[in-house]
Amino acid sequence: MRIGLLTGGGDCPGLNGVIRAVVTEGVTRYGDEFVGFLDGWRGPLELDSVPLGLDDVAEILPLGGTILGTSRTNAGTPERVARIQANLAASGIEALIPIGGEDTLGAATALAQAGTRCVGVPKTIDNDLSGTDLTFGFTTAVEIATEAVDRLRTTSRSHHRVLVVEVMGRHAGWIALHVALAASAAAALIPEAPFGLEQMAERVRDLVRARRDAVVVVAEGAVPRSDAIAGETGAAVDEFGHVKVGGIAGFVAQRLEALAGVETRTVVLGHVQRGGVPTAFDRILTSRLGLAAITALHAGQSGVMVALRGERIETVPLEAATGTLKTVPPELLRRYAALFAAATD
Ligand code: F6P
Repeated sequence: MRIGLLTGGGDCPGLNGVIRAVVTEGVTRYGDEFVGFLDGWRGPLELDSVPLGLDDVAEILPLGGTILGTSRTNAGTPERVARIQANLAASGIEALIPIGGEDTLGAATALAQAGTRCVGVPKTIDNDLSGTDLTFGFTTAVEIATEAVDRLRTTSRSHHRVLVVEVMGRHAGWIALHVALAASAAAALIPEAPFGLEQMAERVRDLVRARRDAVVVVAEGAVPRSDAIAGETGAAVDEFGHVKVGGIAGFVAQRLEALAGVETRTVVLGHVQRGGVPTAFDRILTSRLGLAAITALHAGQSGVMVALRGERIETVPLEAATGTLKTVPPELLRRYAALFAAATD
């Protein structure tokens, strides 16, 4: 079979592991031929691709990023779906394996509904895709951010300062919650639970006075309760309640410093969380997902994605990933609250 592969959306440690497993299994077990489309959906839209053989993928398992490049090009419109189908037919490509998040898999759904054979592989460091227990890249991001918070705790303690660390997660707080737990941070602020800061200010002041560290982990999409916004900062918020100026870490730090009277610093981890080598866990997960994707395609499946369900890799309809986001249940934050030294109001 002649198969096209592409990676779309934000990059993510582990993308190359999926590519390697698909190509290696496809070539050696099924005699497939692979084409790597460049930069997400831009590749099939503009017929920009490279051949992918065993030698091209032999060394890429530990490599971060994606050897195919990525973009957020949207291919879900009827006109673009038709153009991609025409391009695939012209180049003799019989099936696609798109690797990506909600948007990439949304376009894959539209293509599959229009008759293109598609098996998707879900990815995002945010871990907020439904239909799968976990997305690859998440454990790597949590590992990187946990190491950062471990380091920040010692400098927080030495300087008797509060440190506010912003991690990724615009719509879901999985990274923030797991990092705060793993690094024993003082608190986790997540988008699913609008926060107040008065109680937290008291607790971080007590921690600092007791010569303990006070690191607050905040997801980039966390939002303050409306009453917590009022006050001297007059922070601007957008229509979703996201603080605009200076980002959410800047807002939290400014308010905590004012309320607690304790020196406060911010660290925005940003794309550091998405870069570099995947953890061993993600290398194994991506290898399993890649093997399952090519197997599903040869079993005649289409319009599905491979997913981790419990200990098994299964296939689920593509729509399962793109319908609703998997957010942190608020009761989980409450369940872990005792482990954080500084609860929110
Ligand atoms: O892919 C997910 C993600 O890393 C989010 O956590 C973050 O909000 C977004 O991508 C950042 O996107 P970009 O790299 O385009 O700035």
